[in-house]
Amino acid sequence: MTEDPQWTAFLQWALPQLRMRWSGFRKVRTQVHKRVHRRLQSLQLAGPDDYRSYLQQYPEEWRVLDTLCRISISRFCRDKGIYGLPAAWRESAFTESTGRYCLQSAYKRPVLFVEHDVRGPVPATALQLILCRNLVYTYYDEGLQREITQRLIDALQPGGLLVVGSHETLPYDVPGFTPCFAPGRSIKRNV
Ligand SMILES: C[S@@+](CC[C@H](N)C(=O)[O-])C[C@H]1O[C@@H](n2cnc3c(N)ncnc32)[C@H](O)[C@@H]1O
Repeated sequence: MTEDPQWTAFLQWALPQLRMRWSGFRKVRTQVHKRVHRRLQSLQLAGPDDYRSYLQQYPEEWRVLDTLCRISISRFCRDKGIYGLPAAWRESAFTESTGRYCLQSAYKRPVLFVEHDVRGPVPATALQLILCRNLVYTYYDEGLQREITQRLIDALQPGGLLVVGSHETLPYDVPGFTPCFAPGRSIKRNV
């Protein structure tokens, strides 16, 4: 199924319409193929060409396809350097037990979990640190990357850090950041 040129052609046609880019999906397309294949079975469609017609006939199906294109975490703590904390912070903020570190309650209490589609407004302001790795700058097209980056800039405090994946770069013409490679791949908002 993975190497079927019909599937590849389908993804190359569909992804740009979702403002995603094929190059980001080259290595993970099996995951998407499997999900789309299951969707076709449930719709009783024979193959990608039928799904293409279905999308054209029922535009609301694009929302379903969008969810099928979400790549899940392939490897946790992929860029280990990013998670390395200075020893003094580790000692003051964590309790160590049998080689595992647990964040102390005082630091857990103010944590707020919010479900957020990264393509929408940022649900917080004046942030000091944004971790945005292995999603925006891998899977989305450049126009969408620029729009999201502008919202991230607006949400970051001057001097705040935006951390992206070790193989990712911001669109070349986004101003206002200085690379700052310690640790991992961090980019500092200028002003
Ligand atoms: C490849 S994983 C990267 C996970 C993590 N950031 C890292 O670097 O290890 C992509 C993550 O983005 C999430 N995701 C996909 N589309 C999203 C969206 N539109 N808004 C927010 N998160 C999304 C997925 O659920 C998945 O957890």
